[in-house]
This record gives sequence, C-alpha cells and structure tokens, in this order.
Amino acid sequence: MHHTAQRRPGQAPETRGKTIRWARWYDLASWLMSFGRAPAIRRRIIALAAPRPGERVLDVGCGTGTLAIDLKRKVGPPGEVRGIDAAAEMVAVSRSKARRAGVQVDFQPAAIEQLPFADGTFDLVTSTFMLHHLPDDLKRQGIAEVRRVLKPGGRFLAVDFSGENGSVIGRLITLFGHGHGKAEGARLRAMLAEAGFGPVQTLKTQYGSLLFLRAAVPAAPDQPGG
Ligand SMILES: C[S@@+](CC[C@H](N)C(=O)[O-])C[C@H]1O[C@@H](n2cnc3c(N)ncnc32)[C@H](O)[C@@H]1O
Repeated sequence: MHHTAQRRPGQAPETRGKTIRWARWYDLASWLMSFGRAPAIRRRIIALAAPRPGERVLDVGCGTGTLAIDLKRKVGPPGEVRGIDAAAEMVAVSRSKARRAGVQVDFQPAAIEQLPFADGTFDLVTSTFMLHHLPDDLKRQGIAEVRRVLKPGGRFLAVDFSGENGSVIGRLITLFGHGHGKAEGARLRAMLAEAGFGPVQTLKTQYGSLLFLRAAVPAAPDQPGG
C-alpha cells in the first residue's frame, strides 16, 4: 500500500520501482546505449501506437518526456497527452523540454501502480522501457491500473527489452543490469490477459533485442466491434 494521500502536490510518490534520478544525463545515455538508434526506435513506437488526432494519451514512466512530446504532435490541438514518472527529476526535465518545444503536455510525478486518473480516461497508453523497473507484483498492479484508465476499445503499447541478449545491444542491456530472461514476453502477455485486456499481439520489428506488445481493452457491447 502506498501513502500518496499524505504527499504534497508535485512531490514524487513512494514506489518500489527503480526510479532514475540522473535525468539530465538520460537522453545522452539512451542515445549511446542504442548506438544512436533511439530516434528511429521512437518513430517505430509511434507508428505502432498509431495515435490519432484528438485522442487522449498517457505515457507511463515517461522519463524525459520525448515520446510524450512527439505523441502530442500527432494528436494535435484537440488531443491531450499526459506523462507520469515516479522520479521528480524526470518530470522536471520533461516539463522544460516541452516548454522549449512549445508543446502542451501535462507531466506530473506519479507511480504506475497508483495512477491519478479516473477510470476510462484515455484512448491510448504507452509504456517504453519502464516495466522492467518494477518488481512483479507492481508490474501486475501497474498493468491493472493502465487497464482501468483506458476507455473501452482503448489500446496499450508496451515496449521493453526482449531478453534476446545475443546481440551487442542485448549484451549491453544485461551488463547495465536491465536484462531479463526470454520468458519475460510470455509473463507480460499473461499479466495483460489477467488484467482483462483482449488478445495481446507481439509485434515484429527489426529490433530483435526489443519486445513490442500491443493489447486493447474489449470494446463496450454497444460499440462497433464489441
Ligand atoms: C528506462 S526509463 C524509460 C523512460 C522512457 N519511457 C523512455 O523510453 O526513455 C524508466 C522510467 O521509469 C520510471 N519509473 C520507475 N518506477 C516507476 C513507477 N513505479 N511508476 C512510474 N515510473 C516509474 C523511472 O523513473 C524511469 O524514468
């Protein structure tokens, strides 16, 4: 149980997830770790998330906010993007990046396992390279929270390391303590199904060391396709 009720507005939540507080160095580190492929990977993530103009989007564990800012450019002025991260330092960097870019995104400190949003708020939730920061029980709780804040028919795109550690990047991921077994994909798929998502798709990309999972909340019975 987390005691966020006693926390001041804007204060980082308590979490057992591994937060990243060296936010100022994060973009450089991820560019280096990806051998300069981080922007291309992000473009692929956006293509697979397929945000539409006017949609309401949430990025959980948003880090320095780059993906959320790009998502806002896709949903346009009628759309709305929010980003949450459990590290106040990440939220601060995200906010100043959005301000410099002249893009309106609401960033706030919050934990995935206790999202400060009403049921059925979002059309799309994204989570990139963050689920491996959580112990299993928080992963389950976080995925259930994502399910709760999605509208019927809303989609979740989760991107993480695949556990295929044969490649150079895979070995680096393991070296930096972010590796997990090849079974992680199956475990995440099971958690998504348990949380009440519909069929989970494993999306094929050119990035073998990365896992792309997409799932949708079943549409309400009176909606087309429900
Ligand atoms: C590897 S970073 C990924 C950041 C960003 N999504 C990206 O793709 O670059 C993982 C992020 O998850 C955040 N985090 C860790 N535990 C969390 C939690 N319980 N709730 C929300 N964010 C959390 C960390 O502070 C960190 O910013």
